[in-house]
Amino acid sequence: MGRAKKVVLAYSGGVDTSVCIPYLKQEWGVEEVITFAADLGQGDELEPIRLKALDAGASQSLVGDLIQPFVEEFALPAIRANALYEGRYPLSTALARPLIARRLVEVAREMDADAVAHGCTGKGNDQVRFDVAIAALAPDLKVLTPAREWGMSREEAISYGERFGIPAPVSKKSPYSIDLNLLGRSIEAGPLEDPMVAPPEEVFAMTASIEAAPLQSQDIEISFEAGNPVAIDGKRMEPVALIREANRLAGEHGFGRLDIIENRVVGIKSREIYETPGLLMLIRAHQELESLTLAADVLRTKHQLERQWADLVYQGLWFGPLKDALDGFIDRTQTYVNGVVRLRLHKGNVTVIGRSSQSSSLYMPQLATYGSEDDFDHKAAEGFIYIWGLPIRLWSAARRGGR
Ligand code: ARG
Repeated sequence: MGRAKKVVLAYSGGVDTSVCIPYLKQEWGVEEVITFAADLGQGDELEPIRLKALDAGASQSLVGDLIQPFVEEFALPAIRANALYEGRYPLSTALARPLIARRLVEVAREMDADAVAHGCTGKGNDQVRFDVAIAALAPDLKVLTPAREWGMSREEAISYGERFGIPAPVSKKSPYSIDLNLLGRSIEAGPLEDPMVAPPEEVFAMTASIEAAPLQSQDIEISFEAGNPVAIDGKRMEPVALIREANRLAGEHGFGRLDIIENRVVGIKSREIYETPGLLMLIRAHQELESLTLAADVLRTKHQLERQWADLVYQGLWFGPLKDALDGFIDRTQTYVNGVVRLRLHKGNVTVIGRSSQSSSLYMPQLATYGSEDDFDHKAAEGFIYIWGLPIRLWSAARRGGR
């Protein structure tokens, strides 16, 4: 490990990142560790976290509010892309990583640091996302990864930290590993490592259980402009406030829990519990508006590219050329995604019950109707089907030896 003098460490306040502070100084001879903690709307008190880093030996402890860029530059594009990794996970954790990496690089520049550091282990996706993003943004900057190299168990890391005044996690030790931000929570480890064990109710914080959800259903309307959600029930909101309100509504009705086996970048299959109520509900509504406003071929092509977009984000390639090119396609399609989707929230379900678009609907009542206003030229179908079915008739006749 080439010597670094001044290092900016991505800091969460957890045991691993706290232990990184004395470890970098004692074991790797780093002179100055500056910590950076990001506010991504997770709702944690950041002042105690800021002080904790100083207690652990940081020379400076910085906190940055990244909520607005997180929503505008990361959550909204994910909604426009209907991004669901492996068809299900809306990337709530993955989307935060390139933003943290970007800010980490900026802080390193401002502080004239010669390296950045993070506390990710060698088994997860987050190390991949941080390392690749930092390499893309600042190829000259060293990335120090103590937790990937120190080979300590969690118990050993805790007692190492205690030698340097880092308190062991006090409260009744939660067996879970939790990542959270405004978009959702990811819960792993402990009893959840047995994929057959049902998630205990205590792991959830953003969503009501189906039992506790109201008996009464609730209908809401979400308005979109150029693919971005802009209002709920006609009330315009800034994107951050809108996501919060979407989380509240969907969460209250018990919608947005996932329990899945997921394929990590490093080849491991892991069991993941997520709750991402607002994001999943907004994607569902957005998909519905697209089916009303996008042409069939555009829609089908977009579906294929959406899967690829989600893979790229999951795999840490946010700042790559394919992501950039796909964004070009997706953004172009979104010009037409304007309108309103009506949803019914009830006992763990979000059901689409209506959609409309003043400016961009491709639904033509006079073509779709079975009533007397019908404009469709029924006789034209005959010629169309004659030609459409020609290849099959030829093949079928040849197969039977007839002509
Ligand atoms: N598997 C998720 C992802 O890769 C979440 C990882 C972080 N979760 C955690 N509980 N530490 O995006």
